[in-house]
Amino acid sequence: MDASPYGEDFDYAEAFQQLDYEAVKADIEDVMTTSQEWWPADYGHYGPLFIRMAWHSAGTYRTLDGRAGASGGLQRLPPESSWPDNANLDKARRLLQPIKLKYGRKLSWADLMVLAGNVALESMGFETYGFAGGREDAYKSNEAVEWGPETEWETTSPERFHDEEVGDLKDPLANTVMGLIYVNPEGPYGEPDLEGSAKNIRNEFQRMAMTDEETVALIAGGHTFGKVHGADNPDEMVGPEPEAAPIDLQGLGWQHKESEDKLGGLDVITSGIEGPWNASPIQWDTGYVDNLLDYEWEPHKGPGDAWQWRAKDEDEVEPAPDAQDESGTQLPMMLTTDVALKHDPDFREVLERFQENPNEFRESFAKAWFKLLHRDMGPPERYLGPEVPEETMIWQDPVPDADYEPVGEDEIDELEAEILDSNLTVPQLVKTAWASASTYRESDKRGGANGGRIRLEPQRNWEVNEPEKLETVLLTYEDIQAEFNLSRSDDVAVSLADLIVLGGNVAVERAAAEAGYDVDVPFEPGRTDAAQEQTDVESFEALEPKAEGFRNYLGGEYDDLYDSPEARLVDHAHLLTLSVPEMTVLVGGMRALGATYGESDRGAFTDEPGVLTNDFFANLLSMDYEWEPVGEDRERFEIRDRDTGDVEWEATRFDLIFGSNARLRALADAYGADDGEEEFVRDFVDAWKKVMTLDRFDLE
Ligand code: HEM
Repeated sequence: MDASPYGEDFDYAEAFQQLDYEAVKADIEDVMTTSQEWWPADYGHYGPLFIRMAWHSAGTYRTLDGRAGASGGLQRLPPESSWPDNANLDKARRLLQPIKLKYGRKLSWADLMVLAGNVALESMGFETYGFAGGREDAYKSNEAVEWGPETEWETTSPERFHDEEVGDLKDPLANTVMGLIYVNPEGPYGEPDLEGSAKNIRNEFQRMAMTDEETVALIAGGHTFGKVHGADNPDEMVGPEPEAAPIDLQGLGWQHKESEDKLGGLDVITSGIEGPWNASPIQWDTGYVDNLLDYEWEPHKGPGDAWQWRAKDEDEVEPAPDAQDESGTQLPMMLTTDVALKHDPDFREVLERFQENPNEFRESFAKAWFKLLHRDMGPPERYLGPEVPEETMIWQDPVPDADYEPVGEDEIDELEAEILDSNLTVPQLVKTAWASASTYRESDKRGGANGGRIRLEPQRNWEVNEPEKLETVLLTYEDIQAEFNLSRSDDVAVSLADLIVLGGNVAVERAAAEAGYDVDVPFEPGRTDAAQEQTDVESFEALEPKAEGFRNYLGGEYDDLYDSPEARLVDHAHLLTLSVPEMTVLVGGMRALGATYGESDRGAFTDEPGVLTNDFFANLLSMDYEWEPVGEDRERFEIRDRDTGDVEWEATRFDLIFGSNARLRALADAYGADDGEEEFVRDFVDAWKKVMTLDRFDLE
């Protein structure tokens, strides 16, 4: 990882495996139940605080680009470290500092923060579904995560939404307020509006890949524990966040302005809302669900001057002990977002089911919590440690194990010959392999060629994949596969997933040969074919490209926060972990190969399509041509011969950006030069191979 002190060769998975995992858990339990004077534990137990830390660490994940989430341990870096929603989680991490120092590189903060949440649940009587380590730490903020257009904390700009009224967020956002993970606890725009709050919760939790049932399970399960903190108004009584705090606070923030204690003493102010949810805040039970459903709740302004809800008949509600004074008590409260669950008929139905069947509640929360913590880790091969569940879940995008022998060198040669002999063209072969592999995203390790999901819904019907043409390509591949597999008398078989990648490789080799370069594109067999039942169609929809620069595809809708096609191209390249030169050669090469959407010659600045030349760069930079926008949106262009005025080619912003952006132009210069072609071909082959194998965790 970038900026890591451990260097490129450091293998976190290997280091993690050396941990005495049970000892780590025992140490966390110990920390959690030992109150520190500098930040006294509520009810003598830091468990609820640790659960909130783990939830805020994992809960930033959003399906649309797969970014954020627990991996990387981003909560300890800005901006998350200073988000108003993460107030006082700096204390939670500081409590765990001795454990981090003890285990060093074997235990990342990313793993430690979520493991602490898991241990907290277990320590308070909840049986979790398991835990997997394997999240490597980042050492600098992830600047690729788009958090929204606002420049001030806790504000919401209309720019955040397509439709503000219904809370329809622009991609890839999943939170409604800058600096809050999801929604405003007081209600939309700080008003106790139950209907609006429920709408926000549903929209935003869906963007974290959660169903209605999972959403209710998570909120109800989480708020079974702990309390909210608002002894006073945070806007008036709390000092600056960690990034803005003085040096002697050593990375801590939100200091109580009037407390003699540097950190704040007992009058803790976090959200500005005050009170526990039920009578037993450090015990797993149905206290939260019961309180919410059994009493009528009414809004009022609490001691922190924030909207919160109290029971209409407070005398009937069982009080909780005071968090700091065993002899005192405190009455339960609810947040607007809690009462919104009861107000919304569909959420309420789940709540009622949970109240009647506490076991269902327990199981549902256990599974949803596990999903929350592990959603961005990719396939189960990456899960580490002794508590990894045996069961595979659909959201992990499972691919089956092979029940046959993979192809060897002779068989690969035979299949290559079959592919070349078929009627499939270079652009068809290249585009299909690209369509299959390029869905990969490093952010949450989803997508990629393994599983052969290009043949399944929803991918086979994505517009960018040109469904009708894809169908014929797939039928040919299926014939080749069937013929090969039936011809074998041994256990050897080939998957379609492998065949599709092999076809792309063969096409690249042939196109390079036609340009005079003898190249070998390495092929690693071993991909298997997933079944439709192993594919969560709805969740795969998040991977559909709305505009795709490598195939020069401009879809209709991409009016999200990446407001230009070229910004989308860069974003896609980033998700594919491509360097700037790798992105450059891939675009130039795909154009030369004619691998464009609709096989249009848009951007194919060459007279020899299908041959792996550097013509794209040479002609783009040539002053023999001029570039004329077609239409006012400046998305499509004509490339005209300067002398004759004839239109030679058409282009999009995806093409012209390589001549207009200085950094890309510098690379186009190098690859387009007379002596640049060989390097271009070599670099293209390397970048191609990289994309084809990005999801091969089985090879590591
Ligand atoms: C505390 C809001 C979902 C677990 C809090 C606090 C707020 C809040 C305002 C008080 C912080 C403080 O003042 O100390 C929300 C909202 C949610 C949500 C608006 C979604 C609509 C969740 C989920 C979980 C969770 C999904 C875990 C699965 C907790 C816990 C605490 C807490 C354990 C208590 C922390 C402590 O005692 O120090 N939440 N929360 N919350 N939340 Fe949530």
